[in-house]
Formats: sequence, structure tokens, C-alpha cells
Amino acid sequence: MSAAVCVFILSAVCGHTVVSGGLSRPTKVRLTSQDMNLVLSWDSPAGPAGLLYTAEYKCSVNSYRASCVNISTLECDFTRIPQGIYQFGKYTGRVRAQSGTETSAWVESNSITLDRETFITSPNVSLLSNAAAIEVIIEDPVFRISSLRAIFSSATYNITYWQDGQRQKTKNMSNVLQNRVVLSDLEPWTRYCVQVQISTRRRPNHLSQPSTAVCESTTIDEEAPWVAAVVTFVVTAMAVALVVIAVVYRKHISRFLCPKDELPQHFNEDLTKRPNSSWYIAIAEEIFHQMSIIPDSSVLEAEHPLEAEPPHNTQT
Ligand SMILES: *[C@@H]1O[C@H](CO)[C@@H](O)[C@H](O)[C@H]1NC(C)=O
Ligand SMILES: *[C@@H]1O[C@H](CO)[C@@H](O)[C@H](O)[C@H]1NC(C)=O
Ligand SMILES: *[C@@H]1O[C@H](CO)[C@@H](O)[C@H](O)[C@H]1NC(C)=O
Ligand SMILES: *[C@@H]1O[C@H](CO)[C@@H](O)[C@H](O)[C@H]1NC(C)=O
Repeated sequence: MSAAVCVFILSAVCGHTVVSGGLSRPTKVRLTSQDMNLVLSWDSPAGPAGLLYTAEYKCSVNSYRASCVNISTLECDFTRIPQGIYQFGKYTGRVRAQSGTETSAWVESNSITLDRETFITSPNVSLLSNAAAIEVIIEDPVFRISSLRAIFSSATYNITYWQDGQRQKTKNMSNVLQNRVVLSDLEPWTRYCVQVQISTRRRPNHLSQPSTAVCESTTIDEEAPWVAAVVTFVVTAMAVALVVIAVVYRKHISRFLCPKDELPQHFNEDLTKRPNSSWYIAIAEEIFHQMSIIPDSSVLEAEHPLEAEPPHNTQT
């Protein structure tokens, strides 16, 4: 009785093995995730060429859902249709080979909890040199499902920087939340290299791949001394030019500024003569009298000074 049952079970197991075991199974079946995608890949079994494969996935304890049917490639991207994938789900995949009506047994993969185990590629880093500072602009890797910030809301950047050629003397800025950061403690006229890594700040800490180092040079200390130097130079140059022009054309300039007003010859002679004639004395007397008469308050004399004067003139 029990032997019959045992034989029945054996035959069932053996029968099943015969039906699906005609083909060798795919090998090295692995489920991986990078930037929130979900990809099953495998190696082809030894045997006939031209095999087709069918790959399926399941979330936790749900049943399997087909994703790639009768494909000839050795991988299936389950996130090709991302709507079916839950970003915090724990996934397992399986694959089987087929050739005509023959199929292999299913081979199950490892399991992956997407958000915890996805491999985060490096951020994209570009640098902007601004005088003695360098601005670091960080772009998050693009996720297949959702986005880095939506899944890892407390993710931060760890920015490492060093003078080109002095890799051993690095400085770092960790726990940076903004994706634009100015490095300002830099030497002027120096080339710096920068590398950025994302930390999800989850426990256990989940880090991105570090970015490849990018380098940029600082220039002068600040903007203001540069402008001042240019202005000083221009002003000095103009002053020097003016002095040179003044020296070269000094005769022309002095002739223009101080023209020689030459008086007529006879005028000059008259002015140089000593006032010794009686005519000069008469004029002097007249002025003297006019000045002495007006304070006298005599209206008559003030109005007719010439009438009073002739006697004085004749007296001298
Ligand atoms: C896959 O191949 C099998 C066997 O050749 C066939 O029966 C089945 O219809 C195919 N499925 C699709 C979706 O092409
Ligand atoms: C990184 O940035 C550069 C320049 O902005 C751009 O050309 C490139 O496509 C970006 N790469 C990625 C992976 O975003
Ligand atoms: C930031 O990166 C530097 C260099 O890789 C490392 O030494 C440092 O520990 C990191 N800091 C954090 C908070 O991860
Ligand atoms: C990163 O920065 C912290 C704090 O500024 C410092 O203690 C640490 O030594 C730095 N690490 C490296 C590798 O420069």
C-alpha cells in the first residue's frame, strides 16, 4: 500500500523530471539592480544553440508574473514596464530555457529589496570657477523608478576636494544637502579636483559610486582688487601721457595760454615817461579838489565843481 504510493510519487516526480528535464537549465541566474532598475540575467546552458528563454518575477510571496517571453537574449529588464514594480518591494526572479516544445526547469534567482540594495551610480559633477572660489554643481543619477530624492529623502553629498597633484591632502564637506555648493577656502591661481559621493544616510549606510574626479582652476583672489588695479593702471598711463605731451608741446601751449599782448610803441613810451609836465599836475589837483569838495555837503559846489575850480588852476 505504502509502497504503491511511494512508487506513484516516484513516477510522478520522475515523469515531471523527464518532461521538463529534456533541456538543461540556464546557469548563474542573478537578479541585480542599478539606479532602481531590476534586471535578471543568466548564462546559457550547454546544449543546442538557438534557445529561447522566459523570465518571470514576483514580489515577496505573490505569484510569479511573466515579463520576457520567448526571448533569445540572456537578460530581462523587469523595469522595462516600470508600473508593475514597487520601489520598496522584495523581488525574486526565475528563468527557464525552451527549444520547440521542450522546456527546462525554472531556475530561481537571489532576492533583492530594491531601495536597500540598488546600486547607486555616481552623481554628475560639473565645476564653475569664480575668482578664487569654485562652484560645484551636482546632478543626481537618474532612477528608473521614482527619483533619488523621492526614495532617499535624507540623502546627502560628501564632497572631497584637493589641489591637483596632492591627492593625499584632501578636504571634505559632508552632509551637504544642496546640489550647488561653493568651495571658498581655496588658493587663487590653483587647480583643484573634486569628487562627490552620495550617502543615503540609511542604516546600514548606503553609498553611491564616487564620481570621477573633475578639475578646475581658480583665478585671482577677488573681483575688486582686479578692477582697482586696472583703473589705477589706466589713470597712471593717462597722467604720464599728459606729462609727455605737455613737455613736447610746451611752446605751443604757453603761446596759446599766455599770448604776448604787444602794446603800440608810442603807448609804451608815454607810460615810461615820468609824469613831470604841468598837465599831470593839473589833473592831480582836479582829483584832489573833487574829493575834498564833496564831503563839504555844499550842494552848489558839488553840482558845479568846475565853476569853483578854474581860480585854483590859475593860481598854480
Ligand atoms: C513561446 O514559445 C512557445 C513554444 O514555441 C509557444 O507555444 C508560445 O506561444 C510562445 N509564446 C509567445 C508569447 O510567443
Ligand atoms: C553629465 O553632465 C554633462 C554636462 O552637463 C552631460 O553632457 C551628461 O549627459 C551628464 N551625464 C549624466 C549621466 O547625466
Ligand atoms: C567623505 O569622503 C571622504 C573621502 O572619501 C571620507 O574620508 C569621509 O569619511 C567621508 N565622510 C562621510 C561623512 O562619509
Ligand atoms: C573630512 O572632514 C571632517 C570634518 O571637517 C574631518 O574631520 C575629516 O578628517 C575629513 N576627512 C578627510 C579624509 O579629509
